[in-house]
Amino acid sequence: MNDKTPFVTKAQLEALAEHYPTPFHLYDEAGMRATADALLEAFSWNPGFREYFAVKANPNPAVMQVLADRGCGFDCATLSELMLAEAVGVRGHDIMFSSNDTPARDFRRATRLGAFLNLDSLDMIEYYERTVGALPDVVCLRVNPGGDFVGTNTIFDTPEESKFGMMPSQLGEACRLLGARGVQAIGLHALLSGNTHGNTYYPTLARLLFEEAVRLNRETGMRIAFVNLSGGIGIPYAPEDEPCDIRVIGEGVRAAFEEILVPAGLGDVAIYTELGRYMAGPHGCLVTRCLHLKHTYHDYVGVDACAADLIRPAMYGAYHHVSVIGQEGGPDKTLAPATHTYDVVGGLCENNDRFAIGRKLPEVAVGDLLVIHDTGAHGRSMGYNYNGRLRSAEVLLHADGTHELIRRAETPADYFATLDGTPYAKRLNDAMDEQD
Ligand code: LLP
Repeated sequence: MNDKTPFVTKAQLEALAEHYPTPFHLYDEAGMRATADALLEAFSWNPGFREYFAVKANPNPAVMQVLADRGCGFDCATLSELMLAEAVGVRGHDIMFSSNDTPARDFRRATRLGAFLNLDSLDMIEYYERTVGALPDVVCLRVNPGGDFVGTNTIFDTPEESKFGMMPSQLGEACRLLGARGVQAIGLHALLSGNTHGNTYYPTLARLLFEEAVRLNRETGMRIAFVNLSGGIGIPYAPEDEPCDIRVIGEGVRAAFEEILVPAGLGDVAIYTELGRYMAGPHGCLVTRCLHLKHTYHDYVGVDACAADLIRPAMYGAYHHVSVIGQEGGPDKTLAPATHTYDVVGGLCENNDRFAIGRKLPEVAVGDLLVIHDTGAHGRSMGYNYNGRLRSAEVLLHADGTHELIRRAETPADYFATLDGTPYAKRLNDAMDEQD
């Protein structure tokens, strides 16, 4: 159980909402730092350990900077994400380029930056050589073991149905092709599940990849530089979710390392991670205000945020906890007893634009502030512009209590920018000059 208390007090939130019009995503620098430090500590037994923060989870350079300052590198999947890493001053082996179906242009940028290349398919060896040039000394291979990926009592997922990675039977061939091209060492990578709960996902995955590493090293003589456990560690979105214990997870990976890699003479392998959700998810929230109350077949709280700002509930039916801040009550006067049942909805012309369905909440009044929890990862970054809705701003709450606008809210000019050069650009400019 976790009590889902927001990371800001009611007074702090009200002051922030005076300063920044709602809706906005708010990020907690102190929380992100603490999580990064706990991760590094949990894996400190491995001298080469690195976290490559998954930029797709929160591609804001100010957030990336917070994590870079704690020693994180970046996992990038596209040209734009590589550019963001570059803008934060990160390059070389501080970047893991974990892409798939990759265009040559993206490979070229990753190569110019000196990033690790994580190859998703066998054909990419020849494709890279043809479109970019000679492969670097160390190359990572993405593994898809097929079948079901089973932990102690859980099926984590079904890799066989996933489009990512190479089959184990293709890895030997990949090593031979790479060796023939002068590649000195490989890394192995797999992402076989998402938002996992309990502490067994990483240790189970590590075991699988370590065994694969030993096999490939024996069969092909290829040196193994690192094993990249990628992302996938979950967070407690719902009050009944038990948080993962990163220390236990780190120790679980260590046990597998000592059992499988060390006796095989591979005790110098570095462990890498590409966590997104675990690093940033709980340290962000979406701050929104109630615009309308509507009582029809259900009781609706209409807020000023919508799925354009956070699509996870609409897209996956994902649970995001909601706190009503306008009401008195609870331990720090932010939470009142949940006496009402609401659907909390945004204004898109999509019936699934609901942040919460049939949710027990305190009574909401028009103008109340609501906090939608755990939007620090895969939140703003998945936003879109359907209905011409404009995506919200991002604010960073610094560890010293000061705050900073780290991305302004979109304006109609942003929405129309790509119509530049069409006959409508001028008329749209005129329309934007009108006052509302
Ligand atoms: N590395 C790679 C290559 C990935 O594709 C991902 C996520 C990660 C790392 C980070 O995974 P995380 O630790 O954040 O789970 N948009 C979805 C999740 C899709 C994740 C895709 N890849 C969501 O909102 O839950």
